[in-house]
Amino acid sequence: MNNLRIDPREAIIKDRMIAVKNIWLVSGFKGGIGKSLISVAVALGLADKGRKVGLLDLDITSSTDHIILGADNLYPREDMGLLPPEFEKIKFMSFQFFSKSYPLGFRGNSISNAIKELLCVTVWGELDFLIIDMPPGFSDTTMDVIKLFDKFSVIAVSTPSPLSKKILENSVKVYKDMKIGILFVENMAQKAKINSIRFDPKIDKALGDVKKIKRTQFYKDALKIVSKIEGGGV
Ligand SMILES: Nc1ncnc2c1ncn2[C@@H]1O[C@H](COP(=O)(O)OP(=O)(O)OP(=O)(O)O)[C@@H](O)[C@H]1O
Ligand SMILES: [Mg+2]
Repeated sequence: MNNLRIDPREAIIKDRMIAVKNIWLVSGFKGGIGKSLISVAVALGLADKGRKVGLLDLDITSSTDHIILGADNLYPREDMGLLPPEFEKIKFMSFQFFSKSYPLGFRGNSISNAIKELLCVTVWGELDFLIIDMPPGFSDTTMDVIKLFDKFSVIAVSTPSPLSKKILENSVKVYKDMKIGILFVENMAQKAKINSIRFDPKIDKALGDVKKIKRTQFYKDALKIVSKIEGGGV
């Protein structure tokens, strides 16, 4: 084997993730369809059920999970790596800790490198679930995650829009070919159905306040997804 092709960071990452039992990517192939809200709600729901949960915001250039949570002024502590700060019983890691309110102008290789660096230094410890909020589309980040994690499942988000459903169907073919478990979730549904979260006009007013989020219909619907993935999922 050509040693020059080996990236030692990939081995370190596998080591760092060794005690993470379940990884769920929250993915969808359009922007603004609720991936981040669902990631946060699912992480909060799992933590409420006493599960050890990590939340990783991998939407590098436009992280929003900290805004949804109202998690201001967090910063990881250093101890043989970076310890994700705990917020609402969730170990939370986001590029926003380092970029603050400036946009990160990354593309291509710099995205891959940033993801690898962060995963190399992050000490998750033992986790029942790591929820990863993904950027929209089948992006550089998606390619990296597929390469870096041995095993993961996907919460595949769409809206009731036929366009959103069609593009999702096409895009998840890659996951299906890889025999990766997929839980389809319809967000902003008109009425309650299995694996759906209804449109909730009150959700935006609850952003930044976990207590308020937990009182919304959005959160109650998201708890159905939590039960599903807690039970193994798909
Ligand atoms: N079930 C819902 N009911 C009402 N509004 C919703 C619902 N889900 C999402 N939204 C609206 O969509 C907005 C965007 O949600 P969110 O940021 O979670 O989407 P996203 O898919 O993560 O977006 P991006 O692709 O930009 O990361 C929310 O701020 C909210 O206004
Ligand atoms: Mg998002």
